[in-house]
Amino acid sequence: MGVEESVIKHYSNGILEESLLAALRAGGKDPDHLHPDDLSVLDQFHIGGVETALEVGRGAGISGSSHVLDVGSGIGGPARVFAHAFGATVQGIDLTPEFVATATSLSARVGLGHQVSFTTGNATALPFEDASFDVATMLHVGMNIRDKDKVFAEVARVLRPGGVFAVFDVMQMGGDEPDFPLPWATTEQTSFVQPPMAYSDAMEQAGLEVDTERSFRDAGIEFIERMIAAAQGAPSSSNFPALRGPDGEASTANLLAALKNHILAPVEIFAHKP
Ligand SMILES: C[S@@+](CC[C@H](N)C(=O)[O-])C[C@H]1O[C@@H](n2cnc3c(N)ncnc32)[C@H](O)[C@@H]1O
Repeated sequence: MGVEESVIKHYSNGILEESLLAALRAGGKDPDHLHPDDLSVLDQFHIGGVETALEVGRGAGISGSSHVLDVGSGIGGPARVFAHAFGATVQGIDLTPEFVATATSLSARVGLGHQVSFTTGNATALPFEDASFDVATMLHVGMNIRDKDKVFAEVARVLRPGGVFAVFDVMQMGGDEPDFPLPWATTEQTSFVQPPMAYSDAMEQAGLEVDTERSFRDAGIEFIERMIAAAQGAPSSSNFPALRGPDGEASTANLLAALKNHILAPVEIFAHKP
């Protein structure tokens, strides 16, 4: 099986939307009358949850007039935050068809169907016109992509001059290898974690200028510890494994250990197209 097929298999389970709706019902929500905020504990597949998506949106200067591309949009959590909190129009693209279908359906359920849309595709070959976006974002996606040069060249192509690119990925900080499974990959076959320097070099190669780089290691540790504690007291139906991936507790524990041991850290990089 190739990398892309394995990544899709890792993220798909065939019952994602119905398990999500069941979790919402168990939490006292009516799936036919949902507000975007009702989804926020379930739909953000990255460290820091909705707060991180808001921070990325603010940092990237997303506003009501922004046309945003969210690369690796998952089930649409970050895209809906950019649309609902900032008023942006957002296009998501993701490799996993089940995620794209769920992102589209959830967005319609919360009344954001007119502001966000999702398409299935590979970040290494974006099916969009040159200079067609003001902002591009990518949250916890690069860990699954070997060829970051290609992704960043594509992002640089579809951004307008002056456009901003915000990345928030888990990156390699120390020389040791993390233990698997991790939330994004069961084995090394689909994990391509790289140091911040590899990201900034690839961005500069693509013609982007790097503005800031910041590690969220400490906040990441706190977030994961809070998540583990919350999952312990919660009934299983409301304990949706958002960040944990199919390997559940083992992958969360390995990620936490890798952060604590200075092997991995969530890092945010902002760049722009001159
Ligand atoms: C950990 S999830 C993050 C989802 C979303 N960004 C979020 O923060 O909620 C990683 C996502 O990257 C997507 N992905 C992995 N490789 C990709 C590729 N080559 N092109 C597009 N999407 C990809 C996966 O399908 C998955 O939805």
